[in-house]
Amino acid sequence: MKQHCKSAHRQMLRCDYSVKMNPINDYITQNKEKFFNELNGFIKFKSISADSCYAEEMINCQKYLMNLLKNINAKTSILATKGINAVYGEIRAHKNSKTVLVYGHYDVQPAQKDDGWEKDPFSIHKKDDKWFARGIADDKGPVFAIIKAIETLQNTIGLKVNIKFLIEGEEECGSKNLDNCIKRNKARLKNDVVLVCDTEWLTKELPCIPYGLKGLMYAYIRVNGPSTDLHSGTYGGIVKNPHLELARILTQLKDENEKVLIPKFYDKVKQVTNEEKQLLNEIPFDVKHLKKELGTELTSDDKVELLTKKGCLPTLDVHGITGGYTGAGAKTIIPSYAEAKISTRLVPDQNPEEVFNELVKKVKSINSSAIIIKDSFAEPFLIDPKNAYIQKAAQVMNDVFGKKPVFVREGGSIPVTVTLNKELNTPIVLFGINNADCSIHSPKENLDEKHFHLGIEAIAKYLDSLSKCN
Ligand code: BES
Ligand code: MN
Ligand code: MN
Repeated sequence: MKQHCKSAHRQMLRCDYSVKMNPINDYITQNKEKFFNELNGFIKFKSISADSCYAEEMINCQKYLMNLLKNINAKTSILATKGINAVYGEIRAHKNSKTVLVYGHYDVQPAQKDDGWEKDPFSIHKKDDKWFARGIADDKGPVFAIIKAIETLQNTIGLKVNIKFLIEGEEECGSKNLDNCIKRNKARLKNDVVLVCDTEWLTKELPCIPYGLKGLMYAYIRVNGPSTDLHSGTYGGIVKNPHLELARILTQLKDENEKVLIPKFYDKVKQVTNEEKQLLNEIPFDVKHLKKELGTELTSDDKVELLTKKGCLPTLDVHGITGGYTGAGAKTIIPSYAEAKISTRLVPDQNPEEVFNELVKKVKSINSSAIIIKDSFAEPFLIDPKNAYIQKAAQVMNDVFGKKPVFVREGGSIPVTVTLNKELNTPIVLFGINNADCSIHSPKENLDEKHFHLGIEAIAKYLDSLSKCN
């Protein structure tokens, strides 16, 4: 009874003030449960683009997404690609108003309970103020937040901008087929600004708008050995060991000071400006805390150096090595092959194709029979943060989150940002709402509840603000 009175009282307060004063916030508050359930429905699909076993889940997820879009009166269709199709949608508000192209992805990284998840990764698990699930932050949660921001506007002060949606299903595999699709659909995708919610904050309670994303050159290096695994006593010393050959290659790709040894690798790297370094210096970023959180040594203790490496300098990493025996106990074989998955993260003005060609030459010079296979390329993205649409986004974030966002260059990649920017000639606004510790791609992927709700509010207010600028 007491509870009832309290909520009745709150309801009254709302009638007195909030509904009139701030209908957006009110709509979000009133619909928290509905939003949660619908988002959980979206999360349930195992839309793992990397594994073709999940083809049916991808299609079911597309359908669910199209329904979410239909519920906000979008005209939807499938944008066919040579791979997994993208979902397209359109809402026309006014003929003369601005058009915002929303880009995002409904595919997610692979996840299995025994990767280290506490609960089923494909159902939202609430813990403290966080929601845990695969895709909750990357990128189903933020895509859903945009849809709900539009719904919120429609049910309160009105949606005053035209919206187009391009939500793809292959981002986590490098968006290999979307470039072509964008080029074929330029007229349809025409817009004034592209809104992307697929990035994260740099530190707690400090909103962050990236103005750069790294490019990527992802490849496999394979060394073939004997036609089948051999007894290492019988044949040791007689044939070469593919794992050691591969190790010889890998250790010559980067030195102990983190310098990448691919020839010409740094030739085109744009100098980090003093202004950028100054900005990084101003960011309250706790290096000791990061070290503790990651549970390992960092490559430097210096904040600016670390942040420069993260956002502005290229890197090289090995992601996994296969071949040989890794099961229980000992098995004395010379494996028939060894293969490493590697990638370099690139910055302006490096070019993935050129880096790949140099890598091939370098690897071949170490071991002429090694095979280098291309996986995916993405060009680095950079935009001037002084752009009016980005400045507006910063203003809205400041209003909603209560703090002025920082502008940084991000270490992650979103391949089609470059294509959209170049082909359609409009600015990209990276309106990230994910908390800094969202742990995307990991078994701890999460979205802070507050980030989700304030994120919806911020997106709604941003879209509304766009109807007011010329
Ligand atoms: N949302 C991420 C990109 C990202 C990561 C932005 C971290 C901000 C911070 C995106 O889904 C992603 O994971 N991209 C891949 C691209 C690759 C497969 C071409 C990446 O960065 O590894
Ligand atoms: Mn993403
Ligand atoms: Mn991702």
